[in-house]
Amino acid sequence: MPSDKTLIKNIRKLILASNTPIPFQKGPALSELATIDSAFLIIENGRISSFGPEDQTPECSGAVIDAHHGYVMPAYIDCHTHLVFADWREQEFIDRMKGLSYQEISNKGGGILNSAKKLAALPEDELFERSAIRLTEAMKCGTGAIEIKSGYGLNTENELKILRVIKRLKVHFPIPVIATFLGAHSFPLEFKSDHQGYINLIINEMLPEIHKEGLAEYCDVFCEQNFYSPDETGQILEAASRYGLKARIHSNQFTHSGGIEVAIRNHAISVDHLEVCNEEEIELLKNSSTHPVLLPSAAFFMNQEYPPARNMIDRGLGLVLASDFNPGTSPSYNLSFVLSLACIKMKMLPEEAIQALTINAAYNLGLESDYGSIEPGKIANLILTKPCPSLSYLPYSFGNSWISKVFIRGNPDFSSEWAL
Ligand code: NIG
Ligand code: FE
Repeated sequence: MPSDKTLIKNIRKLILASNTPIPFQKGPALSELATIDSAFLIIENGRISSFGPEDQTPECSGAVIDAHHGYVMPAYIDCHTHLVFADWREQEFIDRMKGLSYQEISNKGGGILNSAKKLAALPEDELFERSAIRLTEAMKCGTGAIEIKSGYGLNTENELKILRVIKRLKVHFPIPVIATFLGAHSFPLEFKSDHQGYINLIINEMLPEIHKEGLAEYCDVFCEQNFYSPDETGQILEAASRYGLKARIHSNQFTHSGGIEVAIRNHAISVDHLEVCNEEEIELLKNSSTHPVLLPSAAFFMNQEYPPARNMIDRGLGLVLASDFNPGTSPSYNLSFVLSLACIKMKMLPEEAIQALTINAAYNLGLESDYGSIEPGKIANLILTKPCPSLSYLPYSFGNSWISKVFIRGNPDFSSEWAL
């Protein structure tokens, strides 16, 4: 049993450490990172109780962990994943190597429909086991809170199966798990020429049942050419809001789909992807409270242009970064890789990318009072790095394993405790 009190000593730098609440970081503030050099930190009953400069380290009666001059930062918050799926889709990866596009693969029954077929054949218990293993692995890579979408069911029975698995993950795991209903991820084959028929099913059958069982906090729609039009997206989001589900949507992954306008009109918390995003769309976002969520590992895996992150920040926007972990377009839950891509491919500064993956992501999921920064009283979900020369070294050292320990509720041994 770990002691109630733990002192971490010899910390080279505490990242995002503040005695007052850090706001959602926008524009120039995104690069202003609150840090303390040469520090200690004390965890009590799973929460951060105090921290400060090393020369003020108090005597500690509990456990003592030597950071060996590593950095301590808040654990990552992954606000966009599709972690509950039946199986990987590496065969489509090969199709893409041979020159097929995502849309071509999707048109011939691959893509989301392929995942839906596999998921329909898998019992709920097995889906839970597979998802729990992935979540444990994501936590070992530093994820300390996560959003998970449905969307590989595409009928009432299987959408509910995914959402019930997410509910079981919430109960079994010591981190926040936020559920999003994404029944409108694609159109099932039988509704290919009857879009309204499937939308009616979402509105009249799925949403009431989800509401009754309390299975989701948010509703998502894939607003994209060949998927959901802006009008269809609006219809679904309006119905979802009547059931108390807030909006967060996929948009502008491949085209200027019109999703940004619909997202803003429906007070969506975020519009996610934005690989394709022009000046007018940036201006719309600037005049709204909808967060842009960028998913550079999907752009990397799909060999696409990256979202114009630098321009967005320079125009004053606050950005959020996430993994988009899914078997089709981003088969990675590793947010340290997202951190590197954000810098290397989107010209974000290390400070900006770290805040986009922690404090801003916490606001995106409504978790800011307990997660996303090192503040007294917040839950001690933390990453301790191996000894490293500077903050910039973290994104620079891409693909390398620079995490020494991940603390979940102050516990550095959570992975053996929670592994299945
Ligand atoms: O976020 N864009 C839509 N949904 C996923 C891809 C899903 C899939 O191909 O399985 C995404 O990229
Ligand atoms: Fe996604």
